[in-house]
Amino acid sequence: MIEVSRVQVEETYPLRAKVLRNGGPPEAARLAGDDLPEVATYAARDADGRLIGCVGLFPEACPDLPEHPGKGWRIRGMATEDGWRGKGVGAQVLEAALEHVAERGGGLVWCNARTPARRFYERAGFEVIGEPWDDPEIGPHVRMWRRA
Ligand SMILES: CC(C)(COP(=O)(O)OP(=O)(O)OC[C@H]1O[C@@H](n2cnc3c(N)ncnc32)[C@H](O)[C@@H]1OP(=O)(O)O)[C@@H](O)C(=O)NCCC(=O)NCCS
Repeated sequence: MIEVSRVQVEETYPLRAKVLRNGGPPEAARLAGDDLPEVATYAARDADGRLIGCVGLFPEACPDLPEHPGKGWRIRGMATEDGWRGKGVGAQVLEAALEHVAERGGGLVWCNARTPARRFYERAGFEVIGEPWDDPEIGPHVRMWRRA
C-alpha cells in the first residue's frame, strides 16, 4: 500500500539527492525555483510513512513549443527509491502531478528525461520532441511532452 500526496519540497531532498545527485547531501537536491509559490511537489509514502517516490512541477514554458496554447509545466526531480522501482510508484506520483495541472486549467507538461526513463514517460503518454543531447554530468537526455 502506498499513498501519494502533496508535500513540502524539503521532504523530498534526501530521496532526490540519493537517486538524482549520486548520493550527495540533501542540500545538493535543491533546485532553483523550489521555493516559488506555484511550484508543487508530490510524493509517495510506503505503509511505514517512508518517502519512496517524488516529483516536482515547475511553471515553465517548453523551449521547443513556445507557441503552444495553455500554461507550460516542467517536471523535475522525478525519482523512485531503488528497491521500489518497477512497481508503479513513479506512475502514480506522475499521475498526481498531471492531475494537479488538469485541476488548474490544464496545459502542456514537459521534462528533460534521462534516456533510461524514456519508456516510463512514454507509458504515461509523453512523446519525444527535438534531438537528444548529452549532459556531461548526468548523461543522455531527450525532451518529452504531453497535454494535460
Ligand atoms: C524513472 C523512475 C522515476 C520510474 O519510477 P518507477 O517507480 O520505477 O516507475 P514505474 O514502476 O511506474 O514504471 C517503471 C518503468 O520505469 C522505467 N525504468 C527506468 N529505470 C528503471 C529502473 N531502474 N527500474 C525499473 N524501471 C525503470 C521502465 O521503463 C519501467 O517500465 P517497464 O515496467 O515497462 O519496464 C525510476 O526508475 C527512477 O527513479 N529512476 C532513476 C532516476 C531517474 O532516471 N529519474 C528520471 C529522471 S528524468
